[in-house]
Amino acid sequence: MEMTGSGLPPCSRWEYRTRPLCGGALLSSASTRFTPPSIASKSGALIGCRGRFSSPVFTSIGTSGSGSRCRRGRRMSINAAATGTLQKGIAEFYDNSSGIWEDIWGDHMHHGFYEQESDVSLSDHRTAQIRMIEESLRFASLSDYSLKKPRSIVDVGCGIGGSSRYLARKYGAKCQGITLSPVQARRARELATAQGLADKVSFQVADALNQPFPDGQFDLVWSMESGEHMPDKTKFVNELARVAAPGGTIIIVTWCHRDLSPSEESLRPEEKALLNKICDAYYLPEWCSTADYVKLLQSLSLEDIKAADWSQYVAPFWPAVIKSALTWKGITSLLRSGWKTIRGAFAMPLMIEGYKKGLIKFAIITCRKPAS
Ligand SMILES: C[S@@+](CC[C@H](N)C(=O)[O-])C[C@H]1O[C@@H](n2cnc3c(N)ncnc32)[C@H](O)[C@@H]1O
Repeated sequence: MEMTGSGLPPCSRWEYRTRPLCGGALLSSASTRFTPPSIASKSGALIGCRGRFSSPVFTSIGTSGSGSRCRRGRRMSINAAATGTLQKGIAEFYDNSSGIWEDIWGDHMHHGFYEQESDVSLSDHRTAQIRMIEESLRFASLSDYSLKKPRSIVDVGCGIGGSSRYLARKYGAKCQGITLSPVQARRARELATAQGLADKVSFQVADALNQPFPDGQFDLVWSMESGEHMPDKTKFVNELARVAAPGGTIIIVTWCHRDLSPSEESLRPEEKALLNKICDAYYLPEWCSTADYVKLLQSLSLEDIKAADWSQYVAPFWPAVIKSALTWKGITSLLRSGWKTIRGAFAMPLMIEGYKKGLIKFAIITCRKPAS
């Protein structure tokens, strides 16, 4: 397996509609049988937690299935109490901040995919957010012309349902969204009703790590910028694979830290310090790398595993969010939405710093569950 994820060929404004694959590199593919998650999790993979959710509360590690290590021995999961604290923080964070985000940015709570670095207006940002969805679908080979359009979709970490409604409309599919935030679920339902999509999309408060769905239900499993919140990446990926239908596609678009070099045991202290500050502001557990995700998917014998670093295509996003926060409307809304949101706003420059230093990577990882 070789990762060649960084260099995507630039897409022109129009090309992204028509080119078969705009960027991204084939990472790996596996054609072995799908391994049930309960078995696969014993193979041991990644990722832990930090900051307020850090080491004192780690669960057991190793190959027991209740938590495990990656190659370099980092821990993968936190215990139930810490997970509960984290999830309460996430729910409150989005309960408080989703209204202001929607007011200024609309119903997509994720980065845009940009074709140019500067002079981007707010409407360009909205276009870029839609482009992010389209590019992600295309990267996973789910183009408009695909013979096998998804009929059932789960939107894992759905926000106020921007992706759910878009995908349901695009494919004429049924889509179920889950979020930890009751405010988001309610607003997502309101918007679906207002847009005449109430029979196509539904939303509930539920945990991505224990999804309320039977095995093998969804043709498309979609996680747009929610993976970074997951305190147990193994369980997260296991759940994505479990609910995917045979032959179904899994798309994870998420924040990662840079891949470690073969000689590195961990990130450098100053890198960890920067990520820790971001974690505190945005209710994130410990980060993992794109390579870590790929290994997890491989451990589940998923097929057509692909990954890419799209950091360069999202560069205008955070400067624009900061600019919008510094308007009169932004400042007054921030003041009304409380301390958690204000703290999130103060952390925005840290995201820019992380990207500039090559520490933060905007990653897409996709794969397919074997057909049988
Ligand atoms: C940055 S928002 C992204 C929202 C949406 N995907 C979008 O692109 O508009 C992160 C979302 O992940 C959700 N989330 C975080 N942890 C979760 C969990 N354990 N289970 C379900 N949703 C979770 C949050 O509630 C929030 O809706």
